[in-house]
Amino acid sequence: MSRQRTHQTLQLIETLLDTQKLTRGKLVAQAEAKLTTLLEHPYLALTSSGTGGIHVALLALGTQHGDEVITTSYTFSSSVNMILQTGARPVFVDMTSDFRMDLSQLEKAVSPRTKGILVTDLFGLVNDYNRLHHFAQKHRLWVVVDACQALGGKTTDGKLPISYADIVVSSFFETKHISTGEGGVILAKTPELLQRAHTYISHGQPRGIQYQYEVAGMNYRPTDLQAAVLLPQLTSWAKENSLREEQFKLYQALLAPLQPQLILPTVTPHDVPAVYPVQVPQHLHAQILAALTAQQLPYKPQYPKALHEYPVYASQAVKPTSLSRSEAFGKRTVLLLLGPSIDTQTIQRIGDVFTQVTAQASNSPETS
Ligand SMILES: Cc1ncc(COP(=O)(O)O)c(C=O)c1O
Repeated sequence: MSRQRTHQTLQLIETLLDTQKLTRGKLVAQAEAKLTTLLEHPYLALTSSGTGGIHVALLALGTQHGDEVITTSYTFSSSVNMILQTGARPVFVDMTSDFRMDLSQLEKAVSPRTKGILVTDLFGLVNDYNRLHHFAQKHRLWVVVDACQALGGKTTDGKLPISYADIVVSSFFETKHISTGEGGVILAKTPELLQRAHTYISHGQPRGIQYQYEVAGMNYRPTDLQAAVLLPQLTSWAKENSLREEQFKLYQALLAPLQPQLILPTVTPHDVPAVYPVQVPQHLHAQILAALTAQQLPYKPQYPKALHEYPVYASQAVKPTSLSRSEAFGKRTVLLLLGPSIDTQTIQRIGDVFTQVTAQASNSPETS
């Protein structure tokens, strides 16, 4: 964190401590106003986490026991956990080789119990919401976007996913583009839907009205301490996104000669990459991670399995299609860091490691 940003954050926290107004104060409203300007969408609210935001989104759209929600399986557990918490069942479709939902499989996944689609913009790679929206309209389904890793990402036509979705959720967990430790934000399509989401965020009470209970709600409210950490970061957000884009291009250039052994991610100018996800041959996966570790080069742990492969979810999952790509991702993906925590020289050294390991493998008779 830059010194200036640290200073601004500490000043905001000091004011909060002076006034003893640590929650339901002015900073949450200020951060929401600033995000409204930055994201160019008026109906949004902070939450205490992305997971809380997903739960609220599903409940606000009326998800209940016996419903089915179409989703993907190679992701963080939150989306599926929250589907199950509402009493609904996840119906898994596979993903494309660049980690997006395989929309060609949706038709096979719809049943009379299907209520909506929960789609994840994994690693900051945004889905084709225009196409998804047409499908959802045809089948009268809602669309919720888990954009926890993709704050501010846009579709290929340059529109925000909320233009095509009912609710979009993002996270401010420590590993995200912007972090308040824990935290999140939801964007709703209409003011009515936002108001309904608010009741679930705050114990069943509509925003600003105490002791009027409209639904059996939760407490997913953010604190003003979270907003104090968030506000100064909103100023440097665009600059850090540009840095990530540049670093993404550098990885792409360094690893391009190693194709087709490696499968490189494809990005559009409107994606907001959170990491650089590269797929390596399965027999080299452990070797590459070991070589990076040996040279003290950083990478992010990838999800080792798709969610439907865990017993806790397997028994509840509906699998109308093959999920072979989702299953292979855990064995083949290496996640390389982007952002201020990594520099150009380190990225170049990472490129060298990939080049060395793949060259050794090509020369070795055992692996040919
Ligand atoms: C894809 C995805 N969905 C949901 C979440 C949950 O967000 P949070 O940690 O803010 O609850 C995360 C991150 O943690 C995530 O990466």
